[in-house]
Amino acid sequence: MRASIVKYSKNYPAWAVAAALVFVFILPGRAAEPSPRQRLLLDFGWKFHLGDDWGLSERLEKAGVNPGPAGRTFGDANWRMVNLPHDWLPELPFDPKADESHGFKPFGPGYHSNSVAWYRRTFQLSDEDRGRRLMLEFDGVYRDCRIYFNGYFLGHHESGYTGFRYDITDLANIGGANSVAVRVDASQFEGWFYEGAGIYRHVWLEKTSPLAIAPDGVFVWSEFQNNVPEGPAVIQLRTTLVNFQKDVSVAEVNWTIVAPDGKPIFEGGAHQTSEIPPGAKVEFSREISIHSPVLWSPESPKLYKLVTTLLVQDKVVDRVETEFGIRTIAFDPNKGFLLNGKPYEIKGTCNHQDHAGVGSALPDRLQYFRVSRLKDMGDNGIRTSHNPPTPELLEACDRLGMLVMDENRLLGSDVQNLDELAGLIRRDRNHPSVVIWSLFNEEAQQTTPTARNIAVSMQGLAHELDPTRLCTAAANVGNVFQGVNSVLDVRGWNYYPTSVDAYHKRHPGQPEIGTEQASTVCTRGIYANDKERGYVSAYDDNAPPWATTAEFWWKIFADRPWLSGGFVWTGFDYRGEPTPYSWPCINSHFGIMDTCGFAKDNFYYYQAWWSDRTVLHLLPNWNWPGKEGQDIDVRCFSNCQEVELFLNGQSLGRKSMAPNSHLQWNVKYAPGALSAKGYKDGQVIAEQKVETTGPATAVKLTPDRASIDADGEDISIITVAVTDSTGRIVPVADNHIEFELSGPGKIIGVGNGDPSCHEADVYVAGQPSHTVALKDWRIKRGASYPSPAEAGEKVDASGWQEANVDSQGGPLNPDETAVYRAEFEATPAMLAANAVNINFGMIDDEGWVYVNGQKVGESHDWTAQPSFSVGKFLHEGANSIAVSVQNHEASGGVNKGVSLAILEKPVASAWQRSVFNGLAQILVQGDQQPGTLILTARSPGLEPATLNINSGAVTPHPFVP
Ligand code: GAL
Repeated sequence: MRASIVKYSKNYPAWAVAAALVFVFILPGRAAEPSPRQRLLLDFGWKFHLGDDWGLSERLEKAGVNPGPAGRTFGDANWRMVNLPHDWLPELPFDPKADESHGFKPFGPGYHSNSVAWYRRTFQLSDEDRGRRLMLEFDGVYRDCRIYFNGYFLGHHESGYTGFRYDITDLANIGGANSVAVRVDASQFEGWFYEGAGIYRHVWLEKTSPLAIAPDGVFVWSEFQNNVPEGPAVIQLRTTLVNFQKDVSVAEVNWTIVAPDGKPIFEGGAHQTSEIPPGAKVEFSREISIHSPVLWSPESPKLYKLVTTLLVQDKVVDRVETEFGIRTIAFDPNKGFLLNGKPYEIKGTCNHQDHAGVGSALPDRLQYFRVSRLKDMGDNGIRTSHNPPTPELLEACDRLGMLVMDENRLLGSDVQNLDELAGLIRRDRNHPSVVIWSLFNEEAQQTTPTARNIAVSMQGLAHELDPTRLCTAAANVGNVFQGVNSVLDVRGWNYYPTSVDAYHKRHPGQPEIGTEQASTVCTRGIYANDKERGYVSAYDDNAPPWATTAEFWWKIFADRPWLSGGFVWTGFDYRGEPTPYSWPCINSHFGIMDTCGFAKDNFYYYQAWWSDRTVLHLLPNWNWPGKEGQDIDVRCFSNCQEVELFLNGQSLGRKSMAPNSHLQWNVKYAPGALSAKGYKDGQVIAEQKVETTGPATAVKLTPDRASIDADGEDISIITVAVTDSTGRIVPVADNHIEFELSGPGKIIGVGNGDPSCHEADVYVAGQPSHTVALKDWRIKRGASYPSPAEAGEKVDASGWQEANVDSQGGPLNPDETAVYRAEFEATPAMLAANAVNINFGMIDDEGWVYVNGQKVGESHDWTAQPSFSVGKFLHEGANSIAVSVQNHEASGGVNKGVSLAILEKPVASAWQRSVFNGLAQILVQGDQQPGTLILTARSPGLEPATLNINSGAVTPHPFVP
């Protein structure tokens, strides 16, 4: 049903609202009354199969009878179990013939069998769900997926980066089992960087009343007079309701705001009542005023909460909570970016969603970890290059304090592209962290009149949906105005930092921002370029032709207050784009940190000039055996006024630090300690020491958190270090470490930041299995169904007709019934197996399956290849199987083969990884069962390490069991 939108809008002056509030009556308790809305995580317990073994699996001539895994009762018992988010690429090996930009993973063009996968999930809907509106919501599937529900085709979604949702109410099997099947096709790329493959973001099942707050139906923003946060904030409230009932509803919307300190701002709230026609979408709007608002900023990320409650005849029928922040933003051609009325330089980084171990499938906790690592560096902004982000990244930015340039994937004003842009803006416009929309990145057509026209349409749509933010685009052109730059609110600069002055002179009225700068290349802990091994020195010296060093671009931007700051390419290394070298190098070197989030030396350059901390950092390490007496290039990143360098206690001179710069000495190498003192106004304010370490003697494990939540999602991010006998990290160590985990949890990934490492990031538990064909069937036609006596445990079928169940079609006539029987031996090994499944090629049309007289399942879809788990019904020796079949149309019966699949106990995988320049990372996730996780790390010749992680009882996020 396509709903028309009716707008009810009443805007009251602030004084009138303030006065009205005295009379508006809403009990604060109202906001706490239970609401029928349930938003349930549908991440756990999916079945996964890699391979295009069933083609599209779609029948175009009939609805709801899609064959193969798309079918309702398809037998997926043999498939592997995975939890979401899931990216299957880390499970694949590296292949020098595969696409370099996607990290040499053998998928995409030329690797069809690794590029298509199926996911299936079955869940129950109870009688309580009758009458509810049910919605399946996918935050992101890479890519080109087709979704089926109970055998019906729900839809096709191409973009790997935008979320989508389907209403499944009509198709739901209330009081029974329901199945979702997702066919994912990553054979074509969307980007030129590692993008992952699979359902790599969350999936939700949402249940609401039929009259409800629409998806993305809450929009809240703040306004101040003259866009300066003085005096009261006007809060604009918009709520869209959708009525799926047959009747007109009189609905009342109440808005309550909770301040950052947890206190409701109003004694009551604000409300509005209107009629909602059936099938209509209606927008309610209101403005209210908040005196002395607490402002949001990266330094003080204070969040308000809007509670939108929908009542019908005084009964709560829906409620949605929305976090928001009160702040003002502006881009000024002379003053740059303004936050809360004051110039605020954006010191940002561009990032892909890609982390060591897990690929693009980041548990939420990793988003927080990554944002925190960037903040440690003094980074106050993220550009979500080059696509709409996972929602939890924005949540982390709101809560931890980080500005966001939220980027759309493609230039386009066609229906699909505008829909995707609109979806991005509707989804993300409540986030205070989001301060600007980026419409695209480096489009080849960007200087043409056509691109300009498209940009006008895109920007117009963005303004219509969000009156509070401006638009830019990542333009990789210099002093060029024609095309998109002539129409965009804010000129975005990808590279060309030396062209900014000329452009500014010619277009002094247009604000400007560095959308993408630097692209400096360096490898953690490496101090000489090495093409063969694919390493680039970590001195701030190397950049491809279009790019610059960190110091070069930042000096330009730091000196020009009219520029709004900029975003470095990139905060973290990512898989793919192994510039400047290729194989054996499999990931980028652009990161200020490596793929694990370990700092490269440039981290301290930015920290010195971006953060408020006192920074004193020396490079390189001081392990140079064999180079005694030779010159070593020693550099220092610091924000101290002066720095004095010492070798083994002897001063090598004191130097003054110019702003946004670094210091350099040539030092004749002698093992020992290279140290530095940092001065401010002649006083020592910082000291640092880099020492020659002894040989590696021990492994050390350090978690980012030693206590996690036992919610099945939380992780501990553990640093694995190889140290010498005094506990110093050996900066050149490359020991191979083996890991073992016990307790209620699992390892989900390992990494080490080495851009040329081809060791596995994940170790999938092996699942040995074998299949036995079930032969010697007998058939008795015309039996009753579905539970005839002939399906009992012991029935003498020797007089029945022989049946060939391996044929391509069954013998039954339309509307005929029959019972099939066979016997098989169960060995002790079979009984000890992890699972025994019976797999049918086809039961045509419907079948009820019995093992030893006990019902093990039903199939109602002749196109399905049903499979039933039967292990618990078996006993040693002779067992019987019976299938009661009812055929409807054409010929029918059991055909296309019947087999037993015996799945042995999974073979635990031995997780391992070498450290790279002393460090590696291991990600450990808890189950929902609380307990202690014990991680042990061993390496030949080194003292092992053991770490206990407490996975504590919590109420998990509501989820679909
Ligand atoms: C830019 C591009 C990025 C990345 C970068 C590497 O031109 O926008 O996605 O490829 O170059 O320097």
